[in-house]
Amino acid sequence: MMKGHCMELSRKAGLRGEIAIPGDKSISHRAVMFNALAHGEARITGFLNSADCVSTIRAFTAMGAQVRQDGTECVVRGVGLHGLRQPDGSIDCGNSGTTTRLISGILAGQTFGTRLTGDASLSQRPMRRIMDPLSRMGAEIVSEQGNDCLPLTVRGGALRGIRYVSPVASAQVKSAVLLAGLYADGPTTVIEPERSRDHTERMLRAFGAKISVDGLSVTAEPFEQLEAQDIAVPGDVSSAAFFLAAGAVCPGSEILLKNVGLNPTRDGAVRVLQAMGADLTILDRKDIGGEPSADLLIRHSSLKGCTIEGSIIPTLIDELPVLAVCAAYADGETVIRGAKELRVKESDRISAVCEGLSAMGADVEELEDGMIIRGGRPLHGAEIRCFDDHRIAMSFAVASLDAEGTTVLHGAECVNISYPAFFRDLSALG
Ligand code: S3P
Repeated sequence: MMKGHCMELSRKAGLRGEIAIPGDKSISHRAVMFNALAHGEARITGFLNSADCVSTIRAFTAMGAQVRQDGTECVVRGVGLHGLRQPDGSIDCGNSGTTTRLISGILAGQTFGTRLTGDASLSQRPMRRIMDPLSRMGAEIVSEQGNDCLPLTVRGGALRGIRYVSPVASAQVKSAVLLAGLYADGPTTVIEPERSRDHTERMLRAFGAKISVDGLSVTAEPFEQLEAQDIAVPGDVSSAAFFLAAGAVCPGSEILLKNVGLNPTRDGAVRVLQAMGADLTILDRKDIGGEPSADLLIRHSSLKGCTIEGSIIPTLIDELPVLAVCAAYADGETVIRGAKELRVKESDRISAVCEGLSAMGADVEELEDGMIIRGGRPLHGAEIRCFDDHRIAMSFAVASLDAEGTTVLHGAECVNISYPAFFRDLSALG
């Protein structure tokens, strides 16, 4: 039940049914952006109709691309790599880090200056990570308040190709630099500490760009003309993760999730849940829009704790909050380490998860770069702060499913960022 900005949830007897998981957020952003920069018209199906992706549509229409969105279908008429025009006024990126950082790479290659703004959460997120490499390439990027955060003004220049050793495994940083690389005078290489999601590489190749990958190193060649591409967007594994977790922790559950993207740079949560003993079956593997995909069947089972660290972290970074919830329901200890990036997401997700799980009675210890959860204690309902963070809201909705009493989510409407129908889909399962 939604009360004002609060959502009240209580224990469920078992979730059963089938869900069509909404389109992948990362892929939806890129499908609009790259088609806006291409020649010709293309149709995107399975588009994620959510606040974040609408921020990207608004940004590109403000710069002259034509986008007609009707629910999960989008028709984009691009203007070419050199056809964007200076927007009237600032571009508001809303809550979307992906919009901000990828657009910055594109703006680095334009001949005009653009001011980027965002909401309160986005305005606290670190932008130095893109300012450094893009400045080295020749763009001028100024953080208005001198705090390396939004508002930023990006003024494009004649760009140099660079070899950039990124200190973070971040697909947003990698993508920003590779996109700027399309406008550079020579090849641009990004080397990451661990492999981050590779949707940009896959999709730019489909648009005709010359992208080569060698281990942790990705190179983009300068490029003149992208060709518009129709794109079918698979379901978002990051959204599916909430239902995988829900099915795993809620006794009596059996849920089928259709057409979920299972890109190996994104499927870490599926692998971890299987390692924790989840009854999770991968069915009907297929390719959707150049991305490995499948149907996922989850049934309730008992879970055991595990260690999540190292190179798997970037493949499940957005799923760690809900995996922490699973860990609280699992027997034994779960250790999450090497996930400091969680502190600079839409909220400080380490602190938000530890606060919420402790309030529900879990035994959780906060670490600088993760947490230790000693699972198996019964959880009880509590008042939960969502910190305007969609993934925190959905994680604690899952936590409520086998908790004693009522859980109240404060600010639950933030699910609109990535999954507007989340609570409807959850209640449709019983
Ligand atoms: C995204 C990359 C990740 C992820 C975010 C979406 C993307 O962020 O957390 O939700 O679409 O490239 P980082 O690049 O900061 O790791």
